[in-house]
Amino acid sequence: MADLKVAVIGCGGHAQEHFRMIAAEPRLHLVAISEIDGKRLEQNRRQWKPERAFSDYRRMLDTCTVDLVHVCTMPGHLTPIAIDCLQRDLHTSLEKPPGMSAADTEELAAVARRSKGENMVSFNRRYFPQVLAVRRLVQQRGGPVHCAATYNKHLDLIGSKAWAHLTPPSIICDAIHHVDLLRWLAGRTPTEAARATAVYSLIEQGERDGAGRHNAVIHFDSGVIATMMHHSGVGFRIRRAEVHAEDFSAYLDLNETPQCELYQAVDQGRGQGARGEPYRGELDLEPTGGPHFDETRHFADCILGAQTPWSTLEDAVHTMRLGEAIGRGHKGPI
Ligand SMILES: NC(=O)c1ccc[n+]([C@@H]2O[C@H](COP(=O)([O-])OP(=O)(O)OC[C@H]3O[C@@H](n4cnc5c(N)ncnc54)[C@H](O)[C@@H]3O)[C@@H](O)[C@H]2O)c1
Repeated sequence: MADLKVAVIGCGGHAQEHFRMIAAEPRLHLVAISEIDGKRLEQNRRQWKPERAFSDYRRMLDTCTVDLVHVCTMPGHLTPIAIDCLQRDLHTSLEKPPGMSAADTEELAAVARRSKGENMVSFNRRYFPQVLAVRRLVQQRGGPVHCAATYNKHLDLIGSKAWAHLTPPSIICDAIHHVDLLRWLAGRTPTEAARATAVYSLIEQGERDGAGRHNAVIHFDSGVIATMMHHSGVGFRIRRAEVHAEDFSAYLDLNETPQCELYQAVDQGRGQGARGEPYRGELDLEPTGGPHFDETRHFADCILGAQTPWSTLEDAVHTMRLGEAIGRGHKGPI
C-alpha cells in the first residue's frame, strides 16, 4: 500500500513527466486524473491507469480521497485551481511559473500559509542530480563566488499576444527556470536559495511579437554576483549555466541529460601560483539523493518526513519578483 494518494490536474505535454515521476516513486499511488479535453483524458487514462478519470477537477476532489495533487495546467489556468487545492488542505505541487505574475504567486503563498497541505513549485532544475552534486562541490569549497545562466529559445507562442491569456512573457513562463537556478546556485546552504538584493537589467523587446532580449547582472544576499541572458526569437533552445567557487569552476549544459565540465585550480607550490586543470574526481550523485532524485521524490520525502520543501510558494515569490525585475529592465536595489 502506497503512502500517498495522488491526483493530477491537466494531462497535457508536461504532465507526462509528472506521470513518469509518480509511477517511479513507490510511495505514491495515482488514484485520479482530471482533464477538460476528452481525447487527452482518455489517452492518459489508458496510458497511466488511474483508478478514476474526470473532466471536472472539482468533482474529482469532491469524490476521491486524495492526499497530494499535481497541478499541471498552463499558468493562465493554474492559480484558481491551486488555491482550491490548498484551501482543501491538500498537499499541492504546482507547475512553473506559479501563476501569471509575482502577484499571483504572492496570493498563492498567502493561501498556502493558511493551508494544512504542504506546497512545492516544480522549479525542477533545482532537483537535477547533477546540479545538486555540483552545488555540493561548490559549497565544500567555501561557497559560490559567481554564477551565470543562459536561456535562449526560438520564437514560439509563449509570451505572444495570441497566448497572453495563457502565458506570461517568456522571461517568466520559460526562462524563470534559469532565474530560479541562479538563486539556487548562488545559495550558501544545501537547502536555501539566495535572494537578489540588486538587479541591473538591459532589455530590448525586439520587433516580433513574443520576442524579448534580457541581459542582467544580479547581486545576491550571499555576496554572489550573477549574470542572466535570455533571448527569445533566436536560433534554438539552449540552456546553460555556470557556477564558480575559489579555484573551482563548473559549466553545465542543461539541454538534455545534464552534462558538466568541471575544473579545479591546483597549487603548483614554491610560490608559482596555481594551474587550472580538469577536475579529476567523479561527479558523485549519491550524497545528494542519487541519479534518480527528482522534485516528486523530494516532495514525498518532505510530506512524509514533515520537512519544508526547497521550492515552496513562499520562496518562489522571490524568483518571480526577480524574473519580473529582469523583464522590466530594473536597475538598482530590489
Ligand atoms: N518544468 C518543465 O520543464 C516544464 C516543461 C514544459 C512545461 N512546463 C509547464 O507545465 C505547464 C503545462 O504545460 P504543457 O505544455 O503541458 O501544457 P498543455 O497545454 O499541453 O497541458 C495543459 C493541460 O491542462 C488542461 N487543463 C486546463 N484547464 C484545466 C482544468 N480546469 N481541469 C483539468 N485540465 C485542465 C488542458 O486541457 C491541457 O491539456 C505549464 O505551466 C508549463 O510552463 C514545465
